[in-house]
Amino acid sequence: MTETFYVTTPIYYVNDVPHIGHVYTTVAADIVARYKRLMGYDVFFLTGTDEHGRKVEKTAEQAGEKPLELANRVVKRFQDLWVKFSISHDDFIRTTEGRHKKVAQALFSRAKDKGDIYLGRYEDWYCTPCETFWTQNQLNDDMCPDCGRGVEKLKEDSYFFRMSHYQDTLLQHIKENPDFIQPKVRKNEMLSFIKDGLRDLSVSRTSFSWGIPVPDDPGHVIYVWIDALTNYLSGAGYLSDPDKFARYWPADVHLIGKDILRHHSIYWPTFLMSLGIPLFKKVFAHGWWTIEGKKMSKSLGNFVEPLQLTEEYGVDQVRYFLMREVPFGLDADFSRKAMVGRINSDLANDLGNLFNRSLVMATKYFGGTVPARGKVNDTLQRTADDVFQRVDLAMDDLAYQKALIAIWELIGAVNKYIDETAPFTLAKDESKGDELRTVIYNILDTLRVITLFIFPFMPDTGRKMWAALGIKEPIESQDLSRSYQWGSLPEEAELTKIPPLFPRID
Ligand code: ME8
Ligand code: MG
Repeated sequence: MTETFYVTTPIYYVNDVPHIGHVYTTVAADIVARYKRLMGYDVFFLTGTDEHGRKVEKTAEQAGEKPLELANRVVKRFQDLWVKFSISHDDFIRTTEGRHKKVAQALFSRAKDKGDIYLGRYEDWYCTPCETFWTQNQLNDDMCPDCGRGVEKLKEDSYFFRMSHYQDTLLQHIKENPDFIQPKVRKNEMLSFIKDGLRDLSVSRTSFSWGIPVPDDPGHVIYVWIDALTNYLSGAGYLSDPDKFARYWPADVHLIGKDILRHHSIYWPTFLMSLGIPLFKKVFAHGWWTIEGKKMSKSLGNFVEPLQLTEEYGVDQVRYFLMREVPFGLDADFSRKAMVGRINSDLANDLGNLFNRSLVMATKYFGGTVPARGKVNDTLQRTADDVFQRVDLAMDDLAYQKALIAIWELIGAVNKYIDETAPFTLAKDESKGDELRTVIYNILDTLRVITLFIFPFMPDTGRKMWAALGIKEPIESQDLSRSYQWGSLPEEAELTKIPPLFPRID
């Protein structure tokens, strides 16, 4: 049976339009989804939007809209952006859909029937921008310890989830599954939070109405985080498509930013434990992007608008930059200078020039058809073997930067091979025809392998390169685990010269 791979992004709030931070997580998920598909996995990649809660309701009030109108408008912004960014998600879940609401309600009832949800009264602090409950001593100078903004005092009837009950089981699970929370520094933060003692979690609100009603008690709406987290089940067919759910659950990885790790590594697994549903395999919290050294914020007006970036630099250039600039997991700073530097050196010089000059040579010496295979070049093949091993390990660790560095070594190896074999000199000597054929074939065949490697990162570019190499079967249908080896570029494939893949930017 084919192995499956289920990857998720957070579902994004619709109170705000998408920015580069949302693009970052979603592109990262897309790359690992595409990579696993190329490795023969049956992949399910889920993204979507988080549409309930006081924050969304408030934004709608301010805009003079109904919350659902706001959601319908903003969700389109996300969906259009994902088309633009070549995101290959298999489904898009909205928490206002019936298929989601019935799951959130069923799970709430189940935990309640079990005695894990009970009625009480909440009298403490709440941060609406983060949609998070805080106790007085968790506050930081009376502000939200996560976002630094003001909090408000709530006094309302509320259902509570017996989270405290699962503290030891959760600690045990984290200990027995060292990869459950990644990266390690973040895991340690969560461990110390848990060891400080888990309190029961308020899981319903009564002071507003924009949410999923609590079954049999419609004065309450389900707490937006409990609602949101269950998307990972409803989106995978829980209660609607049992075969699908059985195939993909437990999720292989929840990709998120570090801002929402507590919800994913504490609320979510303890809730699943109560429900008796197996836990996801891994949650990975990546770092935070700042812009030219500053926090992105509405008041600073420095949100990097993703569409504008693609117009300035190109979609694949942006995808590449985000993954290459810093190790996934660390914080990063976005600057146009760094972006232009990467595009010109790695993309235009290293990859783009190599590809173009190789096609120029093949066209000049062999009229644009792939010459006959000669003998494999051991150095190139050894490098390709080594790069494949390293990329595969890196992708398992979501070490995108490491994977790209490895791939660029193969690009470097071809550039070096061209310098050493000097095809332009061989071409001047008629007795060297066989050698020239072998050299050009090896260059083109290694470009085929490079194209496969970069395809998950830069799908449009990968497709363009694939077409230029004259290979008929679609790149998506390749099996990377075998096809990185020498020799499957068809002889006599028709090459097409194409304009520079990555124009230089001044
Ligand atoms: O938290 N740098 O939604 P959200 C890096 N609805 N990543 C960033 C970022 C930045 N500056 N800004 C945002 C929510 N992100 C909830 C999630 S999931 C069950 C519910 C990314 O719209 C990052 O992935 O506030 C972060 O975790 C997410 O957007 C938060 O998106
Ligand atoms: Mg947020």
